[in-house]
Amino acid sequence: MAKKLFIKTYGCQMNVYDSGRMADVLAPLGYAPVDSAADADMVILNTCHIREKAAEKVYSELGRLRPVKSAKEAEGGRMVIAVAGCVAQAEGAEVLRRAPYVDIVLGPQTYHRLPEMVARAHRAGAAVGSVGKTGDPAGRGVLETDFPVESKFDHLPEAAAPQGLSAFLSVQEGCDKFCTFCVVPYTRGAEFSRPVADIEAEARRLVAAGAREITLLGQNVNAYHGAAPRSTGGAPAEWGLGRLIGHLAEIDGLVRIRYTTSHPRDVDEELIEAHGAVPALMPFLHLPVQSGSDRILAAMNRRHGADDYRRIVDRLRDRRADLALSSDFIVGFPGETEAEFAATLRLVEEVGYAQAFSFKYSARPGTPAAAMPGQVPDPVKSERLERLQDLLHRQQTAFNEATVGRVLPVLFDRHGRHPGQLVGRSPYLQGVHVAAPDELLGAVADVAIDAVHTNSLGGAIAAGAALRPREGGG
Ligand code: 5AD
Ligand code: SF4
Repeated sequence: MAKKLFIKTYGCQMNVYDSGRMADVLAPLGYAPVDSAADADMVILNTCHIREKAAEKVYSELGRLRPVKSAKEAEGGRMVIAVAGCVAQAEGAEVLRRAPYVDIVLGPQTYHRLPEMVARAHRAGAAVGSVGKTGDPAGRGVLETDFPVESKFDHLPEAAAPQGLSAFLSVQEGCDKFCTFCVVPYTRGAEFSRPVADIEAEARRLVAAGAREITLLGQNVNAYHGAAPRSTGGAPAEWGLGRLIGHLAEIDGLVRIRYTTSHPRDVDEELIEAHGAVPALMPFLHLPVQSGSDRILAAMNRRHGADDYRRIVDRLRDRRADLALSSDFIVGFPGETEAEFAATLRLVEEVGYAQAFSFKYSARPGTPAAAMPGQVPDPVKSERLERLQDLLHRQQTAFNEATVGRVLPVLFDRHGRHPGQLVGRSPYLQGVHVAAPDELLGAVADVAIDAVHTNSLGGAIAAGAALRPREGGG
């Protein structure tokens, strides 16, 4: 009988991808995914450390799991609890101290070794009785948080579970930027790019398994510089992201390509050109700017000014006039004055965003900004966040409303809640609900947009809409 594996994923899309790969690694051991922790044989929390709140959620969840595990053990069963991801990497020993009933703590670079860790946890469990009941603070859990020299990508099995019509593919990992507020360079390690040939092979497998859209993932995805395929004689030894995208767009059956998350410093001419030249590359870009103030950007070690960002956006829109933008913002970075915050509002007004994420600065232990003078009081951060989110929300609403009356190509990737309804995405990543026949699942069809709902658009299949299995369009 299959063993039940429950994975709960926090944080970014990299974690979503990693969770899928952990399931792949455990599949040969007889673990099959389930959607609840109750009665699971193994529970993995794939965690996020980016802000304090994200990290605290993990401890709350562990608190809820403890009685579930005890109940299972009281019946003679066993539940292995593993904490994976960035909290594990950043404070693994602390996890075992605060939650000694955790069996395995593994960092993002070690999950190809999960089978061996599971075996060790089982041996430890058998030897010492039920882990956790004694609350041994010394911790018997398996802790694996080193950064191995060899890449985990070389050790992972081929993806086993199909990801559906819209799939993630990790092309790059880690970050060398060291923004002063950010834990990622510490939890994910140094920048590493996978070879083009490996990525192409994985993309082909995903498409063969039904994917029509692939989102290329990386903490710093446009810093991508992977080894070129062998066959390309005189071409450069390494390819950038723009070239990789152009190459993947040749795969038959792949109609849409996206990528996230990018850094303004790594937007090069080749990538900008790809936005104009590759129809499958969707006209939607998540390009975090964090702040509109040059002084704050410098203190954040972003290595570009607000005008550099404006220029990049202009160049992108020169190639692709309908490019829609998304961003991340941090308010209340140490020392941020009202005037500096106002510069962020100004930048938002000028650029215009289709959507965005914004956060109050959260001091992360060990990062340079946490020790900077001028920490901004929480009520000030809250008030600034509210003003920024109000502006961003108005822009998002205006952006969505402007699509009413337009015809947009929609890739239908799932059924809606109502019978006869399909849900898909516009080129700009908006969800679109349409009454449509099942045959359109997995196809791109033109939709006349006629309504804006809270989080999505509504429309009808456009009269005479042709199925367009090859192009992304938009
Ligand atoms: N505090 C608040 N927001 C942060 N981010 C990263 N680190 C912090 C922090 N310490 C935000 C940035 C980043 C996004 C993923 O999370 O905006 O782009
Ligand atoms: Fe963090 Fe900056 Fe790297 Fe992005 S670029 S992951 S914000 S250090």
